[in-house]
Amino acid sequence: MRKPFVAGNWKMNKTVEQASLLVADLLPGLQAVNKIDRVLCPPFPALMVLSQMTAGTEIGLGAQNMHWEESGAFTGEVAPAMVKEFCAYVILGHSERRAYFAETDQTVNKKVKAAFAHGLTPIVCVGETLEENEAGKTAEIVRREVLEGLKDLDPADAVKLVVAYEPIWAIGTGKAASAEQAEEIIAKIVRGSLAESLSSAVADQIRILYGGSVKGSNAAEFFSMPNIDGALVGGASLKADDFTKICQAAQDTIA
Ligand code: PGA
Repeated sequence: MRKPFVAGNWKMNKTVEQASLLVADLLPGLQAVNKIDRVLCPPFPALMVLSQMTAGTEIGLGAQNMHWEESGAFTGEVAPAMVKEFCAYVILGHSERRAYFAETDQTVNKKVKAAFAHGLTPIVCVGETLEENEAGKTAEIVRREVLEGLKDLDPADAVKLVVAYEPIWAIGTGKAASAEQAEEIIAKIVRGSLAESLSSAVADQIRILYGGSVKGSNAAEFFSMPNIDGALVGGASLKADDFTKICQAAQDTIA
């Protein structure tokens, strides 16, 4: 039984003050959906205040990236132990990191291992571009991202993984994949590749999310699919009503 999981990726939005206001709006609704894991991933500066505001609740916090090294001369980077001070989760390998900040399967793999070494749960993103999709390369790309990005993991760690399948053409475009399309890739390619590199017993325990234009109005369709265990939400996670509705849909449909 995989516990439903919904995470909000705020991306580069919200000052500390704006973040506090949004969380104040979110808290009552999020506390009510207590049969699922719900996680907020604000920009780094807001983590400290949000950790105070969510203390004593079961609402989790996540960072949107981190470096794999312990400390040192890496200007502008944040180390795993610094993330761990406030967070239980960290998003790794988001397509925007891959596209704009030269993130590769190899750096994702180092970060995933560093996250587990520090007791953080990685939320690892995979997904194909529009061109790759149109060229019929979705399976090949997603399989490679899973096999390389999640290489050489201890099965005891791997079962804790959260993987998000996010077709890049669906991110921030308002054009979500269909629930059937997402289910097919998640079941055959994401879970299939996890089974190939780990084992089907391990792959069956790993939570796999869909991401890309998830909203309150379409979330339940995704959650009704047997292999979709939740969602990674961008734009709609910045609206308290919509994000709460998505969490409620996960609880009603899967939990
Ligand atoms: P979106 O973003 O929900 O705005 O499409 C999803 C993501 O990038 O994680």
